[in-house]
Amino acid sequence: MDRFLVEGGRKLKGTVTVSGSKNACLPVLVASLLTDEPFVLHRVPDLRDVRTTLKILQALGKKVQYQNGTVTILADGALKNTLPYELVKQMRASFWVAGPLLSRFKQAVIPLPGGCALGARPVDIHLKGFERLGAACTTQQGNVVLSAQALHPAKITLRFPSVGATQNLMMCAALIPGETVLENVAKEPEIEDVSAVLRQMGAEVFSDEKGRLVVRGRSALHGVEHTVVADRIESGSYMLAAAATRGDVRVEGCVPEHNSMLLDCLQEAGVPLEIGADYVQVKPYDTPLKPLRVKTAPYPGFATDLQAPWMALMSLCNGTAEVDEDIFENRFMHAPELVRMGADIVTEKSIARITGVKKLSGAHVMASDLRGGFALLIAGLCASGVTEIERVYHIDRGYENPEGKLNALGARVTRYNPDKDDF
Ligand code: UD1
Repeated sequence: MDRFLVEGGRKLKGTVTVSGSKNACLPVLVASLLTDEPFVLHRVPDLRDVRTTLKILQALGKKVQYQNGTVTILADGALKNTLPYELVKQMRASFWVAGPLLSRFKQAVIPLPGGCALGARPVDIHLKGFERLGAACTTQQGNVVLSAQALHPAKITLRFPSVGATQNLMMCAALIPGETVLENVAKEPEIEDVSAVLRQMGAEVFSDEKGRLVVRGRSALHGVEHTVVADRIESGSYMLAAAATRGDVRVEGCVPEHNSMLLDCLQEAGVPLEIGADYVQVKPYDTPLKPLRVKTAPYPGFATDLQAPWMALMSLCNGTAEVDEDIFENRFMHAPELVRMGADIVTEKSIARITGVKKLSGAHVMASDLRGGFALLIAGLCASGVTEIERVYHIDRGYENPEGKLNALGARVTRYNPDKDDF
């Protein structure tokens, strides 16, 4: 398994270009199941989760080509409506195929994704929504079995604005003629990307004056050509890496308003920024970093996916910062690893208290999840000495070419595999 060796103590400097959004790409790729017409997507990042999604589409019977960031998906005979566990267990978002398959076939068998490192992560909100659309949902031998004589539009209130459930239900409703109204939905920018694709496919999708998502479905949908929105989590991660090393970095090709909360927090903490139409310049500073209290929340609140990279930055603040993780029950696995690098972090239930230290020091650490992995990279960039990060495959799930992008900014990050490479 690949590892990273990070030589710390170098300020990042230069320009980094943001890739297409992983979290928009996954549902948009899956939306191709709603039609037999060609689907062409541009700015598709080369990530493990994207490759897993492409394998899922192939397993379901689609023909897939991926070249230079463009994915072309074509029909290749009849589609299947069951998915092997082997693929689902690699990525929870594989459950997003349920909505499109249910609306196309009135029947789908999807292995239950189960728990993950971040906690239980049930799919009850997805299933309740499918039931409201007319499906019967049962669990048999570890599979969710969805079936319906006929589906019908409905008014559905989500008990929590789940991102995945919103996407799954809007994709399902797009192929059900009539008006489905989704209340208490997620408002993340990735939802707008899925909406844009469904609109191009022929469905009417819009937010009404009460903030409800209205989907007017059609009995058949078309193919699309679409460019995926910039990855706001990758953008934010590089801004945090730049700020943590007190570097001078232009994060280019992003949508700054998608990171409004993070930009406000960075400025409040004393990190100078220049915010353009499609870039953010993180500027050098020599004042102490102010500790802040942040609480993760659905968009436009502080993104849970930026909580771990933010914690790496706050490890160097002047005072005691606080993070309240309000979305996932178990998302502090990076904290003990940061402590191994000299950080002073105490966690209790959903709260982490981070007392800033003058310096982090390189250590042998382990990435336990995607964003927590990037937090260790940030810490390694600031630390004295060398940091060795194991289980880089977590980082590869969601960051395209992280060592290439960081090294172009003056970092020294080396990927190696102890089973293959000599060091
Ligand atoms: C998506 C993102 C992930 C991000 C998360 C929250 C993708 C591929 N992943 O994940 O990066 O961290 O949004 O912004 O887009 N929940 C339930 N029942 C459900 C569904 C969710 O209890 O049926 C709970 C989850 O356990 C979690 C919370 O709701 O505690 C938020 O989950 P959700 O918004 O659904 O996240 P995902 O869509 O899985």
